[in-house]
Amino acid sequence: MDFNEKTATKAVLDSFSSIKNDRLKFVMNSIVTHLHEVIKEVEPTDEEWLQAIMFLTNTGQKCDDRRQEFILLSDVLGISMLVDSINNRKSKNETETTVLGPFHTTSPKVNMGDNIANNVNGEKCIVSGKVVDINNNPIAKATIEVWQSGPDGLYDVQKEGHTVDLRGTMSSLENGSYFFRTVKPQYYPIPIDGPVGKVLNSLERHPFRPAHIHFMVKAEGYENLVTHVFIEGDKYLESDTVFAVKKSLIRKLEQGNDPENGEKCFYLNFDIVMEKII
Ligand SMILES: [Fe+2]
Repeated sequence: MDFNEKTATKAVLDSFSSIKNDRLKFVMNSIVTHLHEVIKEVEPTDEEWLQAIMFLTNTGQKCDDRRQEFILLSDVLGISMLVDSINNRKSKNETETTVLGPFHTTSPKVNMGDNIANNVNGEKCIVSGKVVDINNNPIAKATIEVWQSGPDGLYDVQKEGHTVDLRGTMSSLENGSYFFRTVKPQYYPIPIDGPVGKVLNSLERHPFRPAHIHFMVKAEGYENLVTHVFIEGDKYLESDTVFAVKKSLIRKLEQGNDPENGEKCFYLNFDIVMEKII
């Protein structure tokens, strides 16, 4: 039978009939069915389709071991948060999840109270909290990994010849508590010097994310948690370009003094509630 607008989708789906992996078959059927629907609705010209191919090509070519343009693309289209929402339906009072983002990488072990800001100057901040279960029982020896951008809005990996900075991995104490020193996080633009930046520009969207610190928390017997803490009052809380803000993750910065040296600093408290693996 001729391949035409009417027969196209069935022809491709029929070609999947011998796929033995049920999940793969389901996914491919769904992708092809929806993509064909899009093409039939949009009716791209040859030039437009080539433009789309070149956009994806450029997105791939922009990726290397320090830059993940496809994650950015997934983020700004709300797909990362949609996948996150589907896979982390909140059941009780556990801390809500949000996107991993493109800047996660291995981080050095730090001790309780260490300063993770080595090469940046910023407003000092002490971040503290407790890791607990849903019944408020402390979780000891939870692995808490944190990473953030500096006051210039850049993560260490975005800088030429970068050295590791503003990252650390620590363990919660017997009473579940943790704390570390850092600098106050600042809102920042996602990288806009690549294809995704061009897309945002043409969609007349700003590239900013509200100030936050990333957390990845793991404890034996509990679901891994990937989340952020956001800062109350940030002007981009309502329009995060990657749609990752949840009200329950916003905390207020308090002003105080560092007990170690009396210097002015901010305090940020963020308790973490882990859900047991059933
Ligand atoms: Fe971030």
